[in-house]
Amino acid sequence: MLSLGIVTISDRASTGVYDDRSGPAIREVFARWVATPVHEVYTLVPDDQPVIEATLRELADAARCHLIVTTGGTGPAPRDVTPEATLAVCERVLPGFGEQMRAESLKSVPTAILSRQLAGTRGGSLIINLPGKPAAIEECLRAVWGAIPYCIELLGGPRLAFTAESPRHHRPS
Ligand code: MTE
Repeated sequence: MLSLGIVTISDRASTGVYDDRSGPAIREVFARWVATPVHEVYTLVPDDQPVIEATLRELADAARCHLIVTTGGTGPAPRDVTPEATLAVCERVLPGFGEQMRAESLKSVPTAILSRQLAGTRGGSLIINLPGKPAAIEECLRAVWGAIPYCIELLGGPRLAFTAESPRHHRPS
């Protein structure tokens, strides 16, 4: 069983101005790529750093999520604080994730460079930031999918099984 935390971070979605489409897009990607049963914990929060930090701590420490994927709040606008909140709760940063996601996204959208998305670990949880655009979800997850399953294993999580649709991943021998 994979325990997956999905955190949508958006002032407007959390106040009902529009529906969250990015959180469901994360769920949908995992349903298509992962054959292992997924226990999902979904949260929708505003762009408020203390709230985001508390949510990430709860998902890592109490819910013991193996993987926590956030969407939104990674840009340069004043209310965008997801990377700051992620840094505050992570014990270790994995800089390659952000670099690779931006590099792949830049092939399709020049504004990808505006995302400060990063990844890191807290206890047994891998935390990955994605931008808020629904179209960015699969693109970014695909960009780093090769290393996500092995990272989950290195942190003490389950060895995942995959569907035929899953992109390739790598497990060093
Ligand atoms: N990455 C991908 N793959 N696709 C996108 O559409 N949008 C960019 C960027 N990264 C985008 C992307 C834009 S326009 C912004 S402002 C930043 O992500 C930050 O978005 P966020 O604040 O919603 O996280």
